[in-house]
Amino acid sequence: MIDRNTAERIKDAANIVEVVSDYVHLVRRGSNFMGLCPFHNERTPSFSVSPRRNMCYCFSCHKGGSPVNFIMEKEGINYHDALLHLAKKYGIPVEERQLTDEERRQQSRREGMLVANEWAMNEMQRNLTETDEGRDVGLQYFSQRGLTDEAIKAFRLGYALDRPGALQEAARKAGIDLETLKSVGLVGTSQQGHPYDRFRGRVIFPVLNPAGKVVAFGGRDLKGGPAKYVNSPESDIYKKSRELYGIYQAKGEIVRQDKCFLVEGYMDVIGMWQSGMRNVIASSGTALTDGQIALIHRFTDNITLLYDGDAAGIKASLRGIDMLLSHKMKVKVLLLPDGHDPDSFARVNTPEEFREYVEKHETDIIRFKAEVLMKDAASDPLRRSEAVKSVVQSLACIPDPITANIYIQECAALMGVDETLISRETARYRSIRLEQLRTERRQEQDRRRIGTDIDRTQPARQPSAGRQEAPAAQTVQSEETKAPSVNPLTPLERQVIRYCVRYGMMDFCEGNDAEGNPCWLNLAEYVDAELRADYMDFSTPLFRKILDEVMTLKERFYAEFDQMVENQAPVVEQRRREKIAELAARDLDMDTLAREEQKMEDALSEEAHREQLLFAADFTGRVLSSHEDDDVRRFAIECMNDIQPLSRRFEQMASSVPEYERLIDLIPRAMTEWRQGIIRGRIEELMVSLRQAQSDGDTERLETIMKEISGLHRKQAKIAKGIGERVISPRGLG
Ligand code: UTP
Ligand code: MN
Repeated sequence: MIDRNTAERIKDAANIVEVVSDYVHLVRRGSNFMGLCPFHNERTPSFSVSPRRNMCYCFSCHKGGSPVNFIMEKEGINYHDALLHLAKKYGIPVEERQLTDEERRQQSRREGMLVANEWAMNEMQRNLTETDEGRDVGLQYFSQRGLTDEAIKAFRLGYALDRPGALQEAARKAGIDLETLKSVGLVGTSQQGHPYDRFRGRVIFPVLNPAGKVVAFGGRDLKGGPAKYVNSPESDIYKKSRELYGIYQAKGEIVRQDKCFLVEGYMDVIGMWQSGMRNVIASSGTALTDGQIALIHRFTDNITLLYDGDAAGIKASLRGIDMLLSHKMKVKVLLLPDGHDPDSFARVNTPEEFREYVEKHETDIIRFKAEVLMKDAASDPLRRSEAVKSVVQSLACIPDPITANIYIQECAALMGVDETLISRETARYRSIRLEQLRTERRQEQDRRRIGTDIDRTQPARQPSAGRQEAPAAQTVQSEETKAPSVNPLTPLERQVIRYCVRYGMMDFCEGNDAEGNPCWLNLAEYVDAELRADYMDFSTPLFRKILDEVMTLKERFYAEFDQMVENQAPVVEQRRREKIAELAARDLDMDTLAREEQKMEDALSEEAHREQLLFAADFTGRVLSSHEDDDVRRFAIECMNDIQPLSRRFEQMASSVPEYERLIDLIPRAMTEWRQGIIRGRIEELMVSLRQAQSDGDTERLETIMKEISGLHRKQAKIAKGIGERVISPRGLG
């Protein structure tokens, strides 16, 4: 284990240009370097290295990150080994902290457990095919259920002999001790204190982790006993919430297809596998956990949930979707005909029929939810509003605002509800959720601070690390429009930077920090990330300068925000006391008093929350309004005092909803308008050249220009539809 200080030293020393140069020939381009991406085959360089941010990034395959990330990816090693690699390169002595005796014991204990499981798996596979009992009972059962030898081998299925202590006896002969068998749960202890074979007389489904290690077993009953499945208990090597059945067999295919199917049971995974669908995993009958989603996320963003089409299946499919959505998974759901599970469906359909069914019936989960709930609530206004609320809660879990916006429009139409209502409610839930997450994150950080030797430290995002110089900064300025006063983009850019000045520190959406770990982006960081992703930048230098300034304020903001929340507590308490005295004086009956008190509590916490929100909303503007730089200060003051003209869509609700509660709508909109402006400008330029080419009679040139123009029109249409793809590429608009 590397101690924390040394780890920090290594990270400080590692220079991205030097590190990458060991693998890639880099050529300077502006303040960055470019080269051929080492992670995929390419002939034109799209791999960019930014010394200023000390990061690298491939614009084509999106791999990259810090020096540590780069080495991990390139050498296929873990975080710890990547640090060692860099330490060696930079001659930093690493005193690997000696494992304590206890730690060493633990480590060898874990290894012993894995060995025992591996042995048991092999033993039970042998039982299945090489003993009479195994063949007559276990193999007979599998073949009756239609399993092929190939599937039995691929999933390492086995059989546990139905004789007391059979496994213990075989283990003794193999030199595996009873304590280890107990620690992995292959052997349990009866109430009388006697050891017994836990899986005795059952067919066995080993659970492999992604690396192919056997961490647990599931054993299916064959005699109609009370427990259909018995599973290994949790242990040092088995945390149920972090494993998925079938992941080892499926992971390759999941990556190839960039998609996985999630089913409920062992047999469903194997049934679909036999049917040729090999990107299938099971949550083993329980709701998905965060850890399992993180595991899936290592392989794909796309997940399709498969359920029986009965009421229970529909209900199950709606469970846990918020968690999937908040992990940025793209979720679909597929209901099988009533009474079928994937296993039975695979058995009565050919693989082609199954595939066809999937393609026809896969539905986007949010659409699915909106439809199901509305159908359910058809004529009942109360259930209808419950349904809307539930859909809105899901919408609020979608981290990417552009995606969320598309869904908002769609759900509004689907549910016959006003779009502004949905978007406003979504914003409200979102801010509640952000608050919760922030609290959780703080608690997490506190917990972490207590531990001393943390292998994988997660440094806070460094907002001040600055931006990456875009390789081809997108500033469309034809000769005629060079003077800033007539640049048609200026008002569009101003709109965006104004939001950053006014609300820059408000939490906005989920993104990734420098290490690639998920974190919350504030509004300014979001805007900066969007610009970077689209190779855009402000054409007005002052605006860029202001955004950089805003991004440096984060730490100060958090410090002051925490202080402000702390100061709030006694004030709220004081108000509470006053209100209670007031209520007491009013001589109310018990019921009314209770109701009034509840109302008062709600009002107090609402008020406190509102104050916090306002504090966050005003912070940036307040600080910048007293900035030392004249231009920055003047602009900030201007922003703080102006009133933004409202688009028609918002006029109706403008009076009731403050601007800072509508940012989730306003920001993507402003960004879109800016992008459209850039494209419009380019089209206008091309029109000038087009006329020139026309009068020159240059048909070849005419054709290229027209092609480019129609390409740009397509992009305009895409952006207008809110399709969340990047419309401006590293090489410009083309
Ligand atoms: P199912 O009851 O759907 O079982 O439970 P199945 O996988 O379809 O099995 P067959 O087709 O009847 O043989 C789904 C999953 O829930 C877990 C198992 O992982 C199972 O695969 N489960 C179910 C248990 O862990 N214990 C049980 O008693 C039942
Ligand atoms: Mn089944």
